[in-house]
Amino acid sequence: MQESYTDALNNPIFKIISEAAEELSVDCYVIGGYVRDYLLKRNTPKDIDVVAIGSGIKLAEKVASKLEGKPQVSVFKNFGTAMIKSDGIELEFVGARKESYQRDSRKPIVEDGSLEDDQKRRDFTINALALSLNKNNYGELLDPFNGTADLENKIIKTPLEPGVTYSDDPLRMMRAVRFATQLNFQIALPSLQAITEHKNRLKIVSNERILDELHKIMLCKKPSLGFSLLHKTELLGLILPELTALQGIEEMEGQKHKDNFWHTLEVVDNISEATDDLWLRWAALLHDIGKAPTKRFHKKIGWTFHGHEFVGSKMVAKLFKRLRMPLNDKMKFVQKLVLMSSRPIILSEDYVTDSAVRRLIFDAGDNVEDLMTLCEADITTKNPKKQHKYRQNFKIVRQKIEEVEARDHVRNFQPPISGEEIMATFSLKPSKEIGIIKEAIKEAILEGEIPNEYQAAKEFMLVKGKNLGLVKTT
Ligand code: CTP
Repeated sequence: MQESYTDALNNPIFKIISEAAEELSVDCYVIGGYVRDYLLKRNTPKDIDVVAIGSGIKLAEKVASKLEGKPQVSVFKNFGTAMIKSDGIELEFVGARKESYQRDSRKPIVEDGSLEDDQKRRDFTINALALSLNKNNYGELLDPFNGTADLENKIIKTPLEPGVTYSDDPLRMMRAVRFATQLNFQIALPSLQAITEHKNRLKIVSNERILDELHKIMLCKKPSLGFSLLHKTELLGLILPELTALQGIEEMEGQKHKDNFWHTLEVVDNISEATDDLWLRWAALLHDIGKAPTKRFHKKIGWTFHGHEFVGSKMVAKLFKRLRMPLNDKMKFVQKLVLMSSRPIILSEDYVTDSAVRRLIFDAGDNVEDLMTLCEADITTKNPKKQHKYRQNFKIVRQKIEEVEARDHVRNFQPPISGEEIMATFSLKPSKEIGIIKEAIKEAILEGEIPNEYQAAKEFMLVKGKNLGLVKTT
């Protein structure tokens, strides 16, 4: 006896779909994410997938004609699918298919099939669960591949032999990792092996689709779960070789450096506890990528990564371009954070002076808070004393940021004396002296020699001008 889940079908839309199907004499089922998420008691999804044993497009048209306001049906003839937006929900209709894929494309060759044919060609057993919308067995769960058992056991398995499922649509390799990370599930061993074996098939998947999954992994509670799976299956090296290059510990003359790959994953998990901002999480993921190309060993001082922040920020641009990520302010933000990623750390290791904090605020501008969040996430030392010291110092840095900013307003620094005023004061034509004086004023403010105020800056300008041999004429 199959179980019945009429509770899952409380939304009146399901009755409408059921009636439409009855009028057309086709059977239909809710399938995929909606059923999975209902059984997992996850938030009600925005998408509902309906499979018809017949034409999905005709069913969609019938449903739309019964809905208030008669919403538009978007038809994708090539795929035999149709979509209706109703009450903020996206309803996707598809005819049950038997599918086989061409080897070098994700585009399937489509043939009509039974419900089970359709379930079989889906990605995972937990995504192949169907609920009947038919009068005779309304709400009955159809689960020929034991998806409910896999939900209970928290396991990602494919309905068919995994090599077939992944090779048919290689995006599923990324989806397996994404679902495992989102749901905190394990990927079954044969699946893991098949992914590794077929990893190169990822090349036929568009960057956009890969990136979409990568972002979803990044937005999970614990992204390291996904990145370690991508690493284990060797997909990561194909997508982000800059990261895999960080893996490993080298030893020279008894001196080791830390494994910057696993360290990075810890940093990403740490930052994910503090923020949901995708791009700040990306900054955490990429903050050390400059360490692989800058790694050196020196007999006297051991391992160094000089200039890795600068090199890393240049690498960010190349990586964004390659993955077709946005080359806009998001990229600039990530670059800036990577470039500045060691600044607060240097501060926290030392005595925190006002002027160092002022310079930090000046350089980081509006990103100073995010930078602090990144640096706090970067504390992965297992030495409790060091950890305590760093955290304490970061607290002081944060406090000082507030105090200094309240007093000196250097966050979005505007020079208190303009170039025009300097020119007028000394009857100067545009010349390098103006730049020298402006820079000196800025430096004096950042160093705390003068407050960030007009009068103090004016007096300073007069002294500086005099030192340069200029004569005040106004
Ligand atoms: N599907 C598949 N192979 C893919 C993509 C999707 O077999 N490469 C099937 C799965 O049965 C999936 C359904 O299509 O459940 C709908 O796909 P999608 O909307 O992308 O995923 P959901 O499972 O709804 O989950 P989410 O919305 O979290 O992505």
